Amino acid sequence: MGQNPSFAARPAAAGANRHRARGLWAMLAVAALIVVACAAPAGGSPSAPAATSGQASASAPASAASSPAIAYPEAPIRVIVPFAAGGPTDTVTRLVAEPMSATLGQEIIVENVAGAGGTLAAGQVATAAADGYTVLMHHIGMSTAPSLYPDLPYDPLVDFKTIGLVTEVPMTIVGRKSFAPTTLQELVDHVKANGMAVRYANAGIGAASHLCGLLFMTAVDAKVTEVPYDGTGPAMEDLLGDQDVDFMCDQTTNTTTQIKAGTVKAYAITSPERNEALPDVPTTSEGGLPDLEIGVWHGLYVPKDTPDEIVQALTGALQGALTDANVIAKFAELGTVPVPADQATPEAHTAKLQAQIELWKPIIEAAGVTP
Ligand code: MLT
Repeated sequence: MGQNPSFAARPAAAGANRHRARGLWAMLAVAALIVVACAAPAGGSPSAPAATSGQASASAPASAASSPAIAYPEAPIRVIVPFAAGGPTDTVTRLVAEPMSATLGQEIIVENVAGAGGTLAAGQVATAAADGYTVLMHHIGMSTAPSLYPDLPYDPLVDFKTIGLVTEVPMTIVGRKSFAPTTLQELVDHVKANGMAVRYANAGIGAASHLCGLLFMTAVDAKVTEVPYDGTGPAMEDLLGDQDVDFMCDQTTNTTTQIKAGTVKAYAITSPERNEALPDVPTTSEGGLPDLEIGVWHGLYVPKDTPDEIVQALTGALQGALTDANVIAKFAELGTVPVPADQATPEAHTAKLQAQIELWKPIIEAAGVTP
């Protein structure tokens, strides 16, 4: 989209189309929003007792230049993913968790806590023991939630410490294999002609797939039926089933393999340029929807009272993971890249989060978007 909450770091996109973005978002006021809360139990993990018992010793020395160094990590670390297993957030998390685990010398257990567009998981981590054994991977939804959920039980800028940014992933508009449209223009025509008979899959309010769908509906000035899932992993399963849902907008980290295999139809990629992993997929701009531009940035968080020594250990492990040859290669296969080293820091991450919250707030308020 013009003001581009996703690729907003790019000055050209951020500035030039500001007025157009406002217009689009104002049109979103008519969009019907459905709160989706598909909570999955966090489940117990072997790390839970260690996390609890470790809290007292880990938090106590936070002040202390004179205190002995914190022994960390001494037990497995849980990284909470706010969407279902098998989806793009899950994929990115598991890819970076492996080298982070090697660096830290401890197992990293990835847990999926899906629901309410990712806010359920963030709420759990906000109140978890601040001992470094509970970490959150979240994406652009961390910055939109304060504007979308008036009763959000946490403040992203207050209740967490940031570890560092991870990656920014383009999205793709994809359809089930037998869906009639074969190009973006045909998809637009089909949606305009069939409206609510067309079924669009998303992962709940504030999910990237939800935001992209709203941008699409605004751009084509038509509404479709939204079918909510607790992540785009299960949504993709249904898309592959070729009957329950017709299309969705999802990150390349979940769609590239399917697009290359020909198991879904690819209409467009939502980045300003074509992607090397998907060179035949036209950009939304090429396809006639220049305002539909969105990407999904990811970062790691811990509860706010986590000692700085632990934050530093996690940041160091993240930075190592983002230079890992396997991570770089897998990211490239899936259409994305690690952030530059200077972005995988708490400072850059906090700055990004703050800027994105400020960017989204007036847009969502002007659009009157509420759950
Ligand atoms: C997922 O991991 O399922 C997605 O990131 C959900 C979304 O934001 O669309």
